[in-house]
Amino acid sequence: MRGLPVRSLRGQLTAGLVTLLALACLAVGVTTVFALRGFLLGRLDDQLSASGGRFAASLEHDNDHDADNRPDTRGQADATFGARLLDGTVPRAGVVDDATDRPLDLTGSDRRALAGVPTDGSGHTIHITGLGEYRVAAVTGDDGDILVTGLPLHPVEETLHHLEGLEAVLFGAALVVTGVAGAVWVRISLHPLQRVTARAAEVAGMPLASGEVAMPEPLPDTDPRTEVGQVGTALNHMLARVEDALSHRQASEERLRHFAADASHELRTPVANIRGHAELALRQPGPVPGAVRHALERIDAESRRMTRLVDDLLLLARLDAGRPLEHEQVDLTRLILDATQDARAAGPAHHWLLDLPEQPVAVTGDSHRLQQAIGNLLANARVHTPPGTEVTVGLSTGQDQVILTVSDSGPGIPEELQDEVFGRFVRADHARSRTTGSTGLGLAIVHAVVTAHGGTAEVTSRPGRTTFRLTFPRS
Ligand SMILES: Nc1ncnc2c1ncn2[C@@H]1O[C@H](COP(=O)(O)OP(=O)(O)OP(=O)(O)O)[C@@H](O)[C@H]1O
Ligand SMILES: [Mg+2]
Repeated sequence: MRGLPVRSLRGQLTAGLVTLLALACLAVGVTTVFALRGFLLGRLDDQLSASGGRFAASLEHDNDHDADNRPDTRGQADATFGARLLDGTVPRAGVVDDATDRPLDLTGSDRRALAGVPTDGSGHTIHITGLGEYRVAAVTGDDGDILVTGLPLHPVEETLHHLEGLEAVLFGAALVVTGVAGAVWVRISLHPLQRVTARAAEVAGMPLASGEVAMPEPLPDTDPRTEVGQVGTALNHMLARVEDALSHRQASEERLRHFAADASHELRTPVANIRGHAELALRQPGPVPGAVRHALERIDAESRRMTRLVDDLLLLARLDAGRPLEHEQVDLTRLILDATQDARAAGPAHHWLLDLPEQPVAVTGDSHRLQQAIGNLLANARVHTPPGTEVTVGLSTGQDQVILTVSDSGPGIPEELQDEVFGRFVRADHARSRTTGSTGLGLAIVHAVVTAHGGTAEVTSRPGRTTFRLTFPRS
């Protein structure tokens, strides 16, 4: 069907209906015209044989100049044609005009046509100059001459034309009515299909990837006797299966979140204990062998790192669970100033620049979490770039949003990492991360915090320019 102007099922059905009707009309039209033509010609032939060549025979006496012997036009219809052929010549031909005979001058082709008519009395159609198409029949007269009688065909043709015109009008009207009514009918029949399509589109547009998903009501069109009902039933089944799968996924996600939260929570205390004991041991007065001191210092450092990791995991688990955040007015300008000051102290070899608006900018949210997110971005700009790198923290306000940017002139994030950099445990250099203590959770937390505030986090990066851009709705 491709390439045809009509593409929709509705259009195709209507067009098919109209086309079939047109073909049927054509068949009926042609059949009736041919049948009527056959019937009328048969009747004409009957008339011809009934006249029995009387008019033609009477032409024989025409030369007698006798009033009583005038050609016999009695009972002959107007325009009846008669001719008498003798030895291949036509001595006399005439036509009945106003109940009297009018002699005719025949042309050569007329004579040839007349001579060609078989003398078995059957009807034949010939053309006579000046008279038009005639149905003629020839019989052999008493004295061996051939008597040809003819009746005009034009009343037959007229009747047929009349029928053709009538059929054209009737069939045309039938096609128009069928087209309009058919389109309406097809539209009504296919209406439930639109409902199915709309439902499928609705589900396709739903965010199924995460969280709790409420499937729409099942479709009412489920009559198995109709095609639409079958589609509706299949769709309902599919939606039920999808809903099942989603609730399974939801449950297992829930379990996993609980597990992560519980595990992190449970780990906190032992880790804190290890750290406490290591600190205590390090503070012991008296000489400690160098190797033992080193081991204690390593335990202390690793347990600090583990504390941070556990805290990060717990925070992520809580944000995943949709734990409500604080809902307070947070002065972002203030947060940025503090965080930059801390960063400057931690990374004095970097150049820290600020690009803030005159007026303080505030958003609604959890100041502690926001501080953590900004801190993570600034830590990245410090840790993952060489000394001397320029870092700019910018803040601007759009129509209904607040935009926070952290840009640095460092080497940038590897291309293949950029799409997933906000994922968990994603980092460029796994080997180095053991020594720098980087876990790959920093940006995951940034993303989770911003999302929990109804905002978005994006990154663009190329060597010499890396920009993280956080967008918050304006409070
Ligand atoms: N400003 C930056 N310049 C270059 N690379 C960066 C920058 N920020 C992040 N990255 C890359 O993205 C990775 C992920 O960053 P993320 O903050 O999530 O983890 P991390 O810094 O490695 O560990 P963590 O922050 O948990 O201690 C980093 O390991 C680093 O490779
Ligand atoms: Mg980081």
